[in-house]
Amino acid sequence: MALNVRWQGWEVIRDASAGLSAPALLQGFFTEPPISEKDVLEAFQRVCAAYDGELMSTLRVYQGGRRPALEHALLSEPPNSCETLRSWQSRLAGDAPTGIFLNRAERWSEAIATLGASLNRGLSGDDPSNLFVVEAVLLIGNYGYSPFGIHVDQGATRVVHIPLTQAQKSLYTWPPGAFEGATGGSVPSFEPERLVPLADCHSYRSGDLFFLPASLFHIGHSPELSATLAFVLTPRVEPMPLDGAAAALENLAGANWQGSAAAQTLTVERLLVLAKDHRELVWSSSLGLSSSLEYEAEALLCDAEQAFTIVRPFQVFVRRSAGLTVYARGKSFSLLPGLSQRHVDDLCTFFAVLNTGENLTFQLARHVAPSIGTDALALIVSILQARHVLVFV
Ligand SMILES: [Fe+2]
Repeated sequence: MALNVRWQGWEVIRDASAGLSAPALLQGFFTEPPISEKDVLEAFQRVCAAYDGELMSTLRVYQGGRRPALEHALLSEPPNSCETLRSWQSRLAGDAPTGIFLNRAERWSEAIATLGASLNRGLSGDDPSNLFVVEAVLLIGNYGYSPFGIHVDQGATRVVHIPLTQAQKSLYTWPPGAFEGATGGSVPSFEPERLVPLADCHSYRSGDLFFLPASLFHIGHSPELSATLAFVLTPRVEPMPLDGAAAALENLAGANWQGSAAAQTLTVERLLVLAKDHRELVWSSSLGLSSSLEYEAEALLCDAEQAFTIVRPFQVFVRRSAGLTVYARGKSFSLLPGLSQRHVDDLCTFFAVLNTGENLTFQLARHVAPSIGTDALALIVSILQARHVLVFV
């Protein structure tokens, strides 16, 4: 499972792909699929729970062309708890070749988000300035050739494909020169049968990993029902100078920051620094994921002896302000009211110990942060648990 995937293990992708510049098929990279069928179905259950009658731009269902009616059907009838991927797809689409594509899947599955973060941290060499923007996409179905045709992804996009099912799936690739020579241009082609004899074929199934570099024309082929998790890696876009300014002000001066003296006396230069600092901490704490989780973890009751630990590979970052702002998994929250310097120091120590990855209990945490009362500590731990930042073990 995702928690067992060490971020250090991903570095071999860089070696196998000549520094992320060539296709690389790593057979047997995983001893078992890092994301289970149950994880996938639960992600769709959460997507369905957010359905309000409107289609989502991140969910597409194809049978030949795009089928909005099937998207409504999918969203209004979630997978049930005893269903398999096969029975769910069959109930939705019958025997017709069908493709289900879910973008930004990291919003709906803690396991997928954690896996993507682990991959990104591994590929970055543990340098936040090397992190990609990572988006997870689920590709499910028995659609034959992908309905998107043979195409090249825009910009310097690279993709890590992780097959989750036993059915063999293939990705055909063409260097730009070969594709353009055969078609007379670079527009997508919907004649895969004619062009496949000129392609390189990469076939994989669960346990394997395939890396697709930038600039290759490609098309997927899934003749049998398969599920693949694709992590789309794009270079970070330079943000606008004031991006994040409102959130930074809220962390500085509370939700009603517009009326506060702290906000009104800020210089523009200081505001730009605050906004940039906020953006960088969101970025580092999310490890480059394009979206944060959309759901909270189920609350668990625990006693003073119950151990908890941070969810690797994430780290919690803190900034001292009037109180303390905590950045975790791409989101921030402030602990403002009534914090003395001693409280702030103790909380910083608590987060530093949490970041080591060691197990903590409430008793140990009280020892680490003696000025923080039991109720306050329990509240902070419950917030962190709800936000998937720590887990009880
Ligand atoms: Fe693509």
